[in-house]
Amino acid sequence: MSTTITPSPEASQQWAALQNRLADISTRHPDAVFASSLGAEDMLLAHAIFQAHLPITVFTLDTGRLHPETLGMVDKVLERYGIAIQVVHPDPVAVRRHVAAHGSFAFYESVELRKECCGIRKVEPLRRTLAGHSAWLTGQHRDQSVTRRQLADSEYDAVFGLQKYNPLASWSGEQVWAIIRAYDIPYNPLHDQGYPSIGCEPCTRAVRPGEDPRAGRWWWEQSSSKECGLHEGNLEKVPGVVAR
Ligand code: ADX
Ligand code: SF4
Repeated sequence: MSTTITPSPEASQQWAALQNRLADISTRHPDAVFASSLGAEDMLLAHAIFQAHLPITVFTLDTGRLHPETLGMVDKVLERYGIAIQVVHPDPVAVRRHVAAHGSFAFYESVELRKECCGIRKVEPLRRTLAGHSAWLTGQHRDQSVTRRQLADSEYDAVFGLQKYNPLASWSGEQVWAIIRAYDIPYNPLHDQGYPSIGCEPCTRAVRPGEDPRAGRWWWEQSSSKECGLHEGNLEKVPGVVAR
């Protein structure tokens, strides 16, 4: 459903502030890269980056288990903006070894095996992509989950060894969607089918009205363990949770 509405003065102001913030980040870090899951928040950030022609490289981690609708967003971006998102793949040998040892659905068996799969399909490719850069950006925000309540706008990412910016940290989900509608930003069609948060296909389900936006991610696990290693630092800020 694509309905364009006139941005409210508040939305226009928020958009202008975001554009200033992104311009400032790219001035400080001309080699900054943006990790896009191709979800709603990340499409909004990509729109802002492309519109202002900022020299921030946008990449996505194709885990090999994404929904076709998600991968389809890479083509939509090319069509709309004429820009090819960099698609990063996991090491095929590590994937084959993991599947041979544990099967294709080991993530349902234990948090350890789930994290091992995320480690191979997401974390190692992320580490490889961030190597040599001085900053990266994400689309996380505080109201997404209990693990993100303490999220900073900017912090040193000790896990990957570079500055990390979360320019939407203080945004609400409603504000994200207000901007998407106002600027007719393309988005993953799964969002209209009950998926507020989208990860790998076997690890994501639709949520019921009123459920937590991330209730459909690794739904068989405790909310406090639901980080995949891309944002391991978040767990250290959750009282009573030790990052593994
Ligand atoms: S996740 O870490 O639990 O998967 P979520 O889907 O909420 O997180 O995304 C939070 C942020 O992590 C995104 O805004 C994006 O910056 C980054 N991210 C998540 N998945 C990917 C991916 N497949 N490729 C690139 N970046 C991603
Ligand atoms: Fe593997 Fe699921 Fe993590 Fe994707 S989200 S990398 S399929 S465990």
